Amino acid sequence: MKRLETKVALITGGNSGIGYATAQEFIAQGARVIFTGRDAAAVAVAAHALGEQAHGLVSDAGVMDDLRRLPAQVQPLADKLDILFVNAGVAFFSPVSGADETHFDDIMRINFKGAYFTVQQLLPLLREGASIIFNTSVNASVGMPNSGVYAASKAAVLALGRVLATELAPQGIRVNCISPGPVETPVYGKLGLPQEQLDGFAQVLSQKVLLKRFGQPGEIAKTAVFLASDEASFITGTELTVDGGIAVNAVLN
Ligand SMILES: NC(=O)c1ccc[n+]([C@@H]2O[C@H](COP(=O)([O-])OP(=O)(O)OC[C@H]3O[C@@H](n4cnc5c(N)ncnc54)[C@H](OP(=O)(O)O)[C@@H]3O)[C@@H](O)[C@H]2O)c1
Repeated sequence: MKRLETKVALITGGNSGIGYATAQEFIAQGARVIFTGRDAAAVAVAAHALGEQAHGLVSDAGVMDDLRRLPAQVQPLADKLDILFVNAGVAFFSPVSGADETHFDDIMRINFKGAYFTVQQLLPLLREGASIIFNTSVNASVGMPNSGVYAASKAAVLALGRVLATELAPQGIRVNCISPGPVETPVYGKLGLPQEQLDGFAQVLSQKVLLKRFGQPGEIAKTAVFLASDEASFITGTELTVDGGIAVNAVLN
């Protein structure tokens, strides 16, 4: 039997990167996957590529009306959800001295407010014994320059994960966070940096990772499979760091 046989999962931000890889891995493990994205064309392309076990929904995690509509969009596809992977997120970087209110609001609206209300709106659809997984970041726990708002948004999600673990334990719902280090996804192309600068950034970052490379989206996806599966039946309220060791490499390497 496959590890997620008979399970129904919802993944936010599933048309790209880690969310897309997780959709592939969940399907490979026997799950049916409903995923969201904010761009209709990108959602359609991903749904086609993922095949008949996937259903794409257009829903913007930064728009409250979309989040309020989400349960009604999901219900014709599934009565109940077994797995919720709260993954949709953006990354923009700025020193505190140069950040404006739009920078702050855009990140917080999608990464934290979006995560908070995604869970709130979908709670009535979660089956007893369901698994919620938040995609956070090692940035929440380290002092990387220029990451102030992004790091805070992910730290807020980590805090939310711990609180939800206690609130939802009576329903047997487990709540955990995955904190990736640098993972090779299209997110870096969305930073608005010239390719040369991106390559330099990637080079420096790779050297900070103990394993001397970026992670692959599939490596985060496999961690999500584990947390979603019955193999993690006694794990709740925790953070699983999947970062090639970057977070413990602060001093000498
Ligand atoms: N890559 C890394 O190094 C890394 C490290 C730590 C944590 N993370 C976290 O991992 C998650 C996935 O990122 P990724 O690296 O896989 O990047 P990605 O390839 O850009 O994927 C992000 C996904 O979220 C979607 N999204 C963004 N804003 C949205 C919104 N308002 N409503 C709905 N969907 C939205 C994106 O849609 P579009 O395609 O339309 O943009 C995309 O499908 C993020 O939460 C990120 O913070 C990534």
